[in-house]
Amino acid sequence: MSFGAFVTDLHTPSDTVEGIDLTDPRTFLAPGAELVDMWRRFRAQSPVHWHEVTGRAVPGFWALSRYDDVMKVYRDNRRFTSERGNVLTTLLEGGDSAAGKMLAVTDGRRHRDLRNLLLKAFAPRVLEPVVAGVRERADRLVRHAAESGDCDFAQDVAEHIPMATIADLLGVPAGDRDYLLSLTKEALSTEEEGQSADEALVARNELLFYFSGLAGERRDDPRDDVVSVLATSTIDGEPLSEQEIIFNCYSVIIGGDETSRLSMICGMRELIEHPEQWRRLKSGEVTVDSAVEEVLRWVSPAMHFGRRALEDVEIGGRTVRAGDVVTLWNSSANYDEDVFADPGTFDLGRAPNKHVSFGYGPHFCLGAYLGRAEISAMLTALRTHVAEAVPDGPAKPIHSNFLHGYSSLPVTLRRA
Ligand code: HEM
Repeated sequence: MSFGAFVTDLHTPSDTVEGIDLTDPRTFLAPGAELVDMWRRFRAQSPVHWHEVTGRAVPGFWALSRYDDVMKVYRDNRRFTSERGNVLTTLLEGGDSAAGKMLAVTDGRRHRDLRNLLLKAFAPRVLEPVVAGVRERADRLVRHAAESGDCDFAQDVAEHIPMATIADLLGVPAGDRDYLLSLTKEALSTEEEGQSADEALVARNELLFYFSGLAGERRDDPRDDVVSVLATSTIDGEPLSEQEIIFNCYSVIIGGDETSRLSMICGMRELIEHPEQWRRLKSGEVTVDSAVEEVLRWVSPAMHFGRRALEDVEIGGRTVRAGDVVTLWNSSANYDEDVFADPGTFDLGRAPNKHVSFGYGPHFCLGAYLGRAEISAMLTALRTHVAEAVPDGPAKPIHSNFLHGYSSLPVTLRRA
């Protein structure tokens, strides 16, 4: 691959961490090297940082940037709950309407029982055909892109992999897939500024309605899929409520679509920006498995998650009070110099590589195996079908304080 920088919007952070607004999506439009530097300053100057906000349900929040502190909170769902939101948006609004029903925003015994139940749908036997589908799809899409030469890697390749995979996992019939795809795009897209909130709400309701119907069908005729597991299982002898079933279908979409898609898009972009690493991958000097882990660390697709403290807790010499919002910045922890040697170097052969891109502890990503399989399939297909890739226009970053990545990545590919 050859050198060539993609052009993105710039928004330069200042020299100290004071005044940096972590709620503002524009903060994260700065070039990667500046963001790496911004987080280095947070870790050095204010690792347990009190970030004020005005005009919201809470006066501010803690921003944790060191690996050890982030892990400490991820690990501890006794003193830090997800039930009052687990990302900045919901935490600052004061809560999440799916709390206590959707896995990611449920804690305690109900979380453990729901998670054990859902794990049945993520068992290797069930995932095997899903992963085979991922490999076939990635290979076909990358081969077509390489044959046609020019493509938007985000829209022509990456967009078609995660939702199709999730549809397989959920057991969505082939005839419903386009409908589902258009709804999820409207309901969840963080890509466009000024997108109508009403349209998103309508699409979200239609999605819930759709899954309610599918759950009814699967209750009578169960298969090996997430919807069947949710529709037919019981906890303490009681079936799941209608809301639990549909919220958890929805949660697989929220959890698995954009995160995987953005990882693949950023993976492609980083290979173009680091031609020496592309050569190492292409020649087999580094394994695809190790490259997948470094893409996940480097990209940190979910920049943060968060919790509410249930009691006073000392972290890094500061007192987090009961009721405080605590945000955990994966995008900083994954670059902590106390844990990663030379963290600002993109090294596909990095070992060890204990990144926190999938979180840690009781809420560790349920789809980590699938997410890894998707990135792996994409890198394998690139290695097989592509000799060289160069940028073919500006990459378009998404606007978000939660997810990191691009909605458009025009590239020119030369066939292997
Ligand atoms: C949880 C990241 C792919 C489903 C999480 C968490 C992270 C994460 C950091 C922890 C959230 C927390 O602690 O509050 C990612 C990344 C992915 C990815 C970076 C792709 C590269 C997927 C896929 C699926 C999925 C493919 C499903 C098909 C979930 C679910 C949870 C979760 C259901 C909640 C688990 C729980 O609360 O027990 N993910 N994820 N994720 N993820 Fe993923």
